[in-house]
Amino acid sequence: MTNSPSRRLVLTRSAALVGAASSGLLLPEWAMAQSGKIRVGLMLPYSGAFAPLGVAIENGVRMAINEQGGKLGGREIEWFKVDDESDPSKGIENANKLVQRDKVDVLIGTVHSGVQMGIHKVARDSGVLTLIPNAGVHAATRALCAPNVFRTSFSNSQPTLALGQAMVAKGHKKAVWITWKYAAGDEAYEGFKESYTKAGGTIVKELGLPFPNVEFQALLTEIAAIKPDAVACFFAGPSGAKFMKDFAAAGLKGKIALYGSGFLTEGVLQAAGPAADGVMTTLHYSDSLDTPRNNKFRLEYAKAFKMQPDVYAVQGYDTGLLLMQGANAVKGDLSKKPELYKAMEGAVIDSPRGKWTMSKSHNPIQDMYLRVAEKGENKVIGIAAKGLADPGTGCRMG
Ligand code: PHB
Repeated sequence: MTNSPSRRLVLTRSAALVGAASSGLLLPEWAMAQSGKIRVGLMLPYSGAFAPLGVAIENGVRMAINEQGGKLGGREIEWFKVDDESDPSKGIENANKLVQRDKVDVLIGTVHSGVQMGIHKVARDSGVLTLIPNAGVHAATRALCAPNVFRTSFSNSQPTLALGQAMVAKGHKKAVWITWKYAAGDEAYEGFKESYTKAGGTIVKELGLPFPNVEFQALLTEIAAIKPDAVACFFAGPSGAKFMKDFAAAGLKGKIALYGSGFLTEGVLQAAGPAADGVMTTLHYSDSLDTPRNNKFRLEYAKAFKMQPDVYAVQGYDTGLLLMQGANAVKGDLSKKPELYKAMEGAVIDSPRGKWTMSKSHNPIQDMYLRVAEKGENKVIGIAAKGLADPGTGCRMG
């Protein structure tokens, strides 16, 4: 056999490997896992209807970690990114790009509840540490809860569980509900239905359209014909701005009160313009929270990223804080799972939204604020629910 260039290359490489092994440079995988960089995977929407939400979450995660030296438990970080496009049909495949191909130690993701179910299957099968920075799908912290999965955002019914009472208190007792028909909208409806009917309100019609459709016209015509006191909804991202603008353009603004779970007005107030003024929402954050913690966060975020933070940035930031608390407790050795999980379960997150703790099923216990959109700001007008926990139904942890 002639010594072809490609064979020479192989020989040279294997000689180098032998050298590395004998000098101790080639560490076994378990040792690499502790001494090398921590591999952090971000699975977020960087395109599609929720693209700005993905960007805000990544900004928040990086900001929290950079503020404390850019390391996790003393180890440097290697980042891996996958654009999930908010496409549930690719959820499992995309999660496996990070878990199987890139061998991440931690997976952070995602925004869309349907995609989350794909991540969740991979998380449960592989046992990889997973932090959910947005998607509120109930199963992840209820019947399918898992010791290695932590949510830093909300469960889908949490914000709307605070909404019904506030609407009835304003005298709006007859409402139409409208949403995208998928887990996030359906589960937001569960919270709304419970709180609104308990407070004495009546839901006269439920309307829906498939995600990420934004053809609202026919549905707004139907609402005009029904003439309810109020409309309550779940929409998010730039589509929320379009809904508020279409609502106003259909002549409904000022005649029918518009309410929403607070995602409706997050990150889109400039885009929505005057159409958003007066829209009332409930959420676990408000830009106008006048606390030193929130003011400092908003200033630093604006400086770093040249844009204003919203709830998604806060959730990303809190994800970074939680991951850091866990990693610091085990000095960067994420293989010490019982210790790692215990530290994360007991964490008190000093968030721009206010301090929060983790429920037994790994979902935040947190306050819900009542807000009104006014001149480009979500103004806090009260606390709609104090220390609200998701029931964690069917979860047997803790
Ligand atoms: C979700 O799909 O769970 C979801 C998406 C966007 C939000 C909230 C929830 O703003």
